[in-house]
Amino acid sequence: MNRFRGMTRRQVVTAAVLGTAGAMATGTPAFGAARTERTAQPWRDTAKSPDWRTDSLLSALTHDEKVILVTAVEVADTKPLEHLGIPAMTRVDASDGLRGDTGVTAFPAPNALAATFDTALAEEYGRAIGAEARAKGWNVLLGPTLDIDRDPRHGREAESYGEDPLVNGAMGAAVAKGFQKNHVIAQLKHFTVYNQEDGRNSLDVRVCERALREVYYPAFEQAIREGGALSVMGSYPKVNGVYACENEHIITALKKDLGLKGYLGTDYFPSGDRVEEFKAGVDSGALVPDTPKEAFSDGRIPEERTHDAARRILYALFASGAFDHPLPAPADVVTTPEHQALARVAGEQATVLLKNRGGILPLSRRKTVAVIGPAGKDAITGVEGSSYVAPGDFTTAVDAIKARTRADRVLVAQGSYGDVALPVIPEAVFTTPDGQPGLHAEFFAGEAFGGDPIATTTTPNVDFRDGNPVDGLPAQWSARWTGTLTPPTTGLVRFSTLLSGAARLVVDGATVFDGSRALWDFFFAPQEYTLGGVTRLTAGTPVEITVEYSTKDVGFNGPSVKLCWQPDSLIPEAVEAAKRADVAVVFVNNFAGEGVDRDNLSLPGDQDQLIEAVAAANPDTVVVLNTSGPMLMPWLDKVKGVLQSWYQGAATGTSIARVLYGDTEPGGRLPVTFPADEEQGPSRYTGPKSGGVGGTITYDEGIYVGYKWYDEHHQKPLFPFGFGLSYTSFAYDRLRVEGIDLADGRDAASVRVELRNTGRRTGSDVVQVYIGHLPTRTATPERQLAGFARVSLKAGERETVKVEIDRRRLSYWDESTSRWITPTGRVPVYVGCSAADIKLAGSITVK
Ligand code: BGC
Repeated sequence: MNRFRGMTRRQVVTAAVLGTAGAMATGTPAFGAARTERTAQPWRDTAKSPDWRTDSLLSALTHDEKVILVTAVEVADTKPLEHLGIPAMTRVDASDGLRGDTGVTAFPAPNALAATFDTALAEEYGRAIGAEARAKGWNVLLGPTLDIDRDPRHGREAESYGEDPLVNGAMGAAVAKGFQKNHVIAQLKHFTVYNQEDGRNSLDVRVCERALREVYYPAFEQAIREGGALSVMGSYPKVNGVYACENEHIITALKKDLGLKGYLGTDYFPSGDRVEEFKAGVDSGALVPDTPKEAFSDGRIPEERTHDAARRILYALFASGAFDHPLPAPADVVTTPEHQALARVAGEQATVLLKNRGGILPLSRRKTVAVIGPAGKDAITGVEGSSYVAPGDFTTAVDAIKARTRADRVLVAQGSYGDVALPVIPEAVFTTPDGQPGLHAEFFAGEAFGGDPIATTTTPNVDFRDGNPVDGLPAQWSARWTGTLTPPTTGLVRFSTLLSGAARLVVDGATVFDGSRALWDFFFAPQEYTLGGVTRLTAGTPVEITVEYSTKDVGFNGPSVKLCWQPDSLIPEAVEAAKRADVAVVFVNNFAGEGVDRDNLSLPGDQDQLIEAVAAANPDTVVVLNTSGPMLMPWLDKVKGVLQSWYQGAATGTSIARVLYGDTEPGGRLPVTFPADEEQGPSRYTGPKSGGVGGTITYDEGIYVGYKWYDEHHQKPLFPFGFGLSYTSFAYDRLRVEGIDLADGRDAASVRVELRNTGRRTGSDVVQVYIGHLPTRTATPERQLAGFARVSLKAGERETVKVEIDRRRLSYWDESTSRWITPTGRVPVYVGCSAADIKLAGSITVK
């Protein structure tokens, strides 16, 4: 499988680039010919507008050339049309750096960037990634990702900018703008309602038009209109029964209402029909080279569509500058000290201080500190999947902490391996019910363990991959392994499994884990995705063990399961270190990424137990959450400090150490609500997980996504959207509001507020402006973010902060007339530092 990476593409680009450069350098006839062409080819005139140049070149294209332009030669590479000056289009995933490349900067994950609420920083982030992309020979960047975080269990949650449409839109616009400053094309993804991995290739998302317009579309519109994004990627799921890439209804909205002047591509081989995709409005088959080329000539795809698709691609090439700026030969190393520093600053500004009882943070350099958990090279640096960027040789948190205090003041204890795959359980500890080594296995027809076994055997352990473990099983089967396990150690034992299918482990009558997976590991990233749990065992005392497996949810690689463990808990050693230190800092993590959704919101493995044990040994405990997003925190009352550090790419380690010691502030605010339990939040998917079998999810929450769901249901989350403490403090005062007079055509209201740093050190705050119910009988959210501004102030300094409120935020989508309505009257306005902490209230008058 060629996922647009590797020698073939690179050879093509390099050869093309060197070919041109060589000819130009020698001034050979080829160069002369190019000059003649230039005069004969008016579209090469850079003084003309992109529209003019597009029309000019389009009128010179033959039908076959248009087909070449809109289809691919191989995944993600389109053929150049050199005689016309049209470059090859080469694509790379780029949500937080260049996926699959080396010598690049791994930036903090997109949701970390969102936590900065800093659009200027986001533009710099985009500009740096765009520069690296161009230097590596790419001119189409697949990103930024603008999928609304509807459910924190979404495996790709960290890949977009949180749960709020405005934050997604503002960040997406800034990143896209930054990308395109480098004469490359930004491809926003994924249009639309791509909010979960389970069942993603065939899922049918049932969603009302109003939610599409108010929740799922706006970020795309903002990134197109404000950010100038020139391309969009269609998503995998069906939207109300029709695959997104074949869905004329949503594609028409994208092009007509959201303003896409550039082109729509598909995601990588979506389910569905290629011809229908083009007919519905897809313009580029770059990620689907299986598009039948003859369909463009035999009448199946109308000529107007081919023409329009070619026009949109040409427009993107001219408007981005990609047409006029040939790509250089790909360089080996494109990261720079400036980009590494930018990653570090983004990481610091993204880190959210969730708790700081007694001002335990920043840490004193004079205190001894126990650094516990995966805080070395085993830290998690990025979202797994299409946005995973290898971080290179980053500085670990342990080393960065040692550099900030003195090495002899740092006690390091592993405590937990964090979220990792464990070793397979050896045969020696298993005994079958009739006293043989291993486990007794029974296989059943069907997925429900019904009837008599169709096969029985003894196996050394439970361990098979990509196929059935015994011959003669039907397509759907289930199996049960039984026996006893005699542990070699006393204490907490961690079990886990890697699997494709469904598995349950019962030890001594108690369920240790129970879940299913379509895939054993993530796409494009180093990690395997475990399912696990812990239990206490006593050395030498046998316990009954049952492992159940069924082919339910099995993915395309076939049945697989492996039963693993860690019998020697590392927690006691961490407790000893915590007792000896003044302060304990516990790093914990989880893997998340493409292809698999999280099972639940708990920290995986033995990490909750580690925190509890450390906090019991040392009351001065700080937890650093190196996680994809929200986690439940059953230990929250027992620790003094909590920092949310997300995934930080190359900045992992350095920025957290600087924040811990107060070299800089934790600048982040939450771009997602942290639920208090598993029940909070919109409805969840329970259908089939494997991509091939269709499941359905109904977004019955409508427009009430994220914090709006909590307000609507009167629920209190663990931490609200927008929340984040500071090392200093702020006061809000003097709210002034200027309304909108629709008659005079003003499109924005404005809110002014005075922000004062009342603490003793420089710090930044994110002023958040929410609006309340609109003056209409139609139900609207109790609170929605309408604008925000990040402001940095020195101790004692004050500043009047102005936030513009776009008219669209004061409008709702009326389903009966299919248009935006801006009701006139007074709209409550709230200024605060989270969705739940309002400092000032007033109203906006809309006349
Ligand atoms: C992902 C896209 C990605 C594409 C190409 C797909 O699996 O959904 O986000 O751009 O692969 O790597």
